[in-house]
Amino acid sequence: MKFNIALLAGDGIGPEVTEQAVKTLDAIADVYNHTFKFNKALVGACAIDETGDPLPEDTIKLCQESDAVLFGAIGHPKYDNDPSAKVRPEQGLLKLRKSLGLFCNIRPVKAYERLIENSPLKKEIISGTDISIYRELTGGIYFGDKHISEDGQVASDGCSYSVEEITRIAHLAFKEAQNRRKKLTLVDKANVLETSRLWRKTVTEIAKEYEDVELDFLFVDNAAMQMILNPSQFDVILTENLFGDIISDEASVIGGSIGLLASASIGSTVGMFEPIHGSFPQATGKNIANPLASILSAAMMLRHLDLHKEADAIEKAVEKSLELGITTGDINPKKPYSTTKVGDFIADYITHPEDSNRNFRNIHAGQSTII
Ligand code: IPM
Ligand code: MG
Repeated sequence: MKFNIALLAGDGIGPEVTEQAVKTLDAIADVYNHTFKFNKALVGACAIDETGDPLPEDTIKLCQESDAVLFGAIGHPKYDNDPSAKVRPEQGLLKLRKSLGLFCNIRPVKAYERLIENSPLKKEIISGTDISIYRELTGGIYFGDKHISEDGQVASDGCSYSVEEITRIAHLAFKEAQNRRKKLTLVDKANVLETSRLWRKTVTEIAKEYEDVELDFLFVDNAAMQMILNPSQFDVILTENLFGDIISDEASVIGGSIGLLASASIGSTVGMFEPIHGSFPQATGKNIANPLASILSAAMMLRHLDLHKEADAIEKAVEKSLELGITTGDINPKKPYSTTKVGDFIADYITHPEDSNRNFRNIHAGQSTII
């Protein structure tokens, strides 16, 4: 089959890691007889530098006309350290999510047995953890009215949610729970926030349609604590935009590195697939960033396009790289491999899964069997 993929590499390490995802998808295309046509477009700080706009119209148009969007990373320190900046790279990502109607962000978190010692958390605490976080992505405080007083002394960010916004993601999260361990935890702050009370009421109502799913509730402060005290209690977590942003970064510690966490953003039209990590400016251009989150995002993309055995092949190759220790310094500090070598190994393993020794030897010899 033929697919048009919008490639939005973005800032910092974005281009380096997405290059490995492209390499991986090219290997999949060869083995399974598909064509992936990658069309590049600008977003973020690089788009501001070139056009003055963090999300040029051309980029939105390209995404809308594509089968899927593969996204790298966004952000640049020159904006982080300048609160007075009028345009910011992140605005590009937020506008893109909104323009494409990507209201549901899915972030899987799992403790890979091979990496269990990498987490600063104790083995017995994280072992067996397998969570799917459903984060609402186009509402809440991220998109509420923003205000700063003329004298610059008072600022506000509004937070609002409608029943409709809650309902559409809640159904997706319940369906995911039905396909998993049949437990859904709503994370909110219903003891304080009106919006959270609306989430509870709405989700409780919807739960009647999913009698096989056990629904429970946690206040976000308690959820943050439970995430490191007893993460294996969670199956599907459903939460609003800001809480989901925070909880998912926290959960990444369980996996041993944020460089492993992929995400899918879906909604009304085309899906977008991106690592949850940022642009990691300190690593930019050094060929040391972990490409696995980007590669696993490509796997989520394939699954969304209904290419399940292809997605399985990528996930198997990632497991193999973890097993053999062909990984970057964040998870393999003693003997780190470069970003490109990890990408070469994954692509090579997809092409020759029967012979991992050969892939291993080739990587050691500094060459890939991909010609
Ligand atoms: C994420 C990121 C973004 C967010 C930033 C870059 C705007 O942290 O995808 O988690 O806050 O949503
Ligand atoms: Mg975040």
